[in-house]
Amino acid sequence: CGIVAYIGDKQAYPILIKGLQRLEYRGYDSSGVALLSNNEIHLYKKQGKVVELENFANGKDVSGSVGIGHTRWATHGAPNDKNAHPHYSGSNKLAIIHNGIIENYASLKAEMISRGHVFESDTDTEVLIHLIEDIQEKTNVDLEEAVRIALNEVIGAYAIVIMSKENPDLLIAAKKSSPLVIGLGEKDEFFIASDATPIVEYTRNVVYLNDEEIAIMQRGEDLRLLNIKNQQKTPYIQELEMQLEAIEKGGYDHFMIKEIYEQPQSIRNSMRGRIDLNKGIISLGGIREYEQKIINAQRIIIVACGTSWHAGLVGEYLFEDLARIPVEVEYASEFRYRNPIINENDVVIAISQSGETADTLAAIKLAKEKGATIIGICNVVGSTISRETHAGSYTHAGPEIGVASTKAFTAQVTVLSLMALSIAHKKGTLSESRFRELLVELDNIPNKVAHMLESDKTIKYISDIYKDARNFLYLGRGYNFPVALEGALKLKEISYIHAEGYPAAEMKHGPIALIDEEMPVVVIATKHGNYEKVVSNIEEVKARNGKIIAIVTEGDTAVKAIADHVIEVPETEDALSPLLTSIPLQLLSYHIAVMRGCNVDQPRNLAKSVTVE
Ligand code: G6P
Repeated sequence: CGIVAYIGDKQAYPILIKGLQRLEYRGYDSSGVALLSNNEIHLYKKQGKVVELENFANGKDVSGSVGIGHTRWATHGAPNDKNAHPHYSGSNKLAIIHNGIIENYASLKAEMISRGHVFESDTDTEVLIHLIEDIQEKTNVDLEEAVRIALNEVIGAYAIVIMSKENPDLLIAAKKSSPLVIGLGEKDEFFIASDATPIVEYTRNVVYLNDEEIAIMQRGEDLRLLNIKNQQKTPYIQELEMQLEAIEKGGYDHFMIKEIYEQPQSIRNSMRGRIDLNKGIISLGGIREYEQKIINAQRIIIVACGTSWHAGLVGEYLFEDLARIPVEVEYASEFRYRNPIINENDVVIAISQSGETADTLAAIKLAKEKGATIIGICNVVGSTISRETHAGSYTHAGPEIGVASTKAFTAQVTVLSLMALSIAHKKGTLSESRFRELLVELDNIPNKVAHMLESDKTIKYISDIYKDARNFLYLGRGYNFPVALEGALKLKEISYIHAEGYPAAEMKHGPIALIDEEMPVVVIATKHGNYEKVVSNIEEVKARNGKIIAIVTEGDTAVKAIADHVIEVPETEDALSPLLTSIPLQLLSYHIAVMRGCNVDQPRNLAKSVTVE
């Protein structure tokens, strides 16, 4: 879920709406705002996207210079108007927005129902605001103290903002395990949001709240922080580096296509300052102190979810192939519940674009307790996972807004390539000359990606032919097996066509039964990596009348002769090929989804940042 709030001299409503649209990537099944004017709270909420809310509020009273807003990804309770946030307290004197989960909500709710509280929604959030009001009434403390006491009673995760009819010049925010950032605007002006994107156009001075901190924003006063144990805290003001253009579409139809096209630059940014071609070295400053630990690691365990997990699989091939360190790649959600065997000689690499994924976070906390060294590969600077790790390297891909990950994936693979190469070099598992060859090639990848993007027309043409297919199969071997998985994921995420990724050779152990003239099969058949074997796999598909869309190396003739369509990628090292072969698959899924009329940036049921377990 995404939250945004404002108190200051400006009208709150336009700021909230714009902020919610920026945060829609965090969930978009319903949204709402509460505004305070003339000592009344006006609350509007609506199922669906933020635009539905705008239509609903059109013509109604949306005045007020204090407001809170929320866009939801449902956990407790169906995505409908009633369950949308903000939520009122029983007397309607307080309103709250919340991101996270109150785990002990059921017992708190039962207790309050027994004392006569009546609830309007099925959400855990409503329980929290009732609890706060209940404490206030019972003990006659002020709102700030009531919030503090209540937060000591809840178990779970929260980022909350509360407004009060009786305190019209006050907003109170707090966080635990869900991110919250406060922007300090002109005098007496505060912006509060789940991430900095709603804030950046108004101010660059921000304070990231720490866990269990409560922020008091009172007109006419400076920001005040305390923790739930009632200790005063000093706000640490940071300057935002984010550029506004980076979070806007800049002439593209969708964020996804903008982000696909940004890849020559974003991959370059992932390498910036880290490669010195003259000296022939890679320096990853963020992990320097832990390099020896990685070199000596008994094994590396990579934990991640979704697309980041696919990047992790490429990492497995890289580290084993180049640095000769055994690697296991784990779904964070499985790893953490399996009583895994971990010790001090293990290095855990957590990969996460957002740096907020709940399962990945929990997995590293577990591994850390057991003594492992934790290295992070995150995109969002200052995110929770990046702070929980011992060390790490940011991917520096810039904000990724499209829910389907594209440039974050290639940036993750770039950083994994840098790490594996650097460790291999220092460990001596790669000869100096081979290391330099790979380094030069990696440095040249952004140019090749730019060249690759010129095939977009061909890919659009192919997309048009297969846009109505009901199933797709994606095949690849070696370094390109994870790319096949990622290609299939991209297609199903945004076009809702069922797609499966498979190791090409495994096809004959099952999926081959699905192949007929209706089945498009995307095969990654670049020159290296078992090329002949892949060609045999293509023959097997052909023999059963499947339609072949092959990703081949420029100048290929053998596959061209048998495939229905080919998409050429520039020649590169096998180990670096995922950085090129993943691009046409991104474009294929993008065009098919657009042609099918799907909402590519915000596919149904998904969220970009999954902060629930
Ligand atoms: C969600 C997103 C995916 C993403 C995954 C992991 O499911 O929709 O695109 O790959 O979470 O997210 P992370 O931020 O940890 O990389």
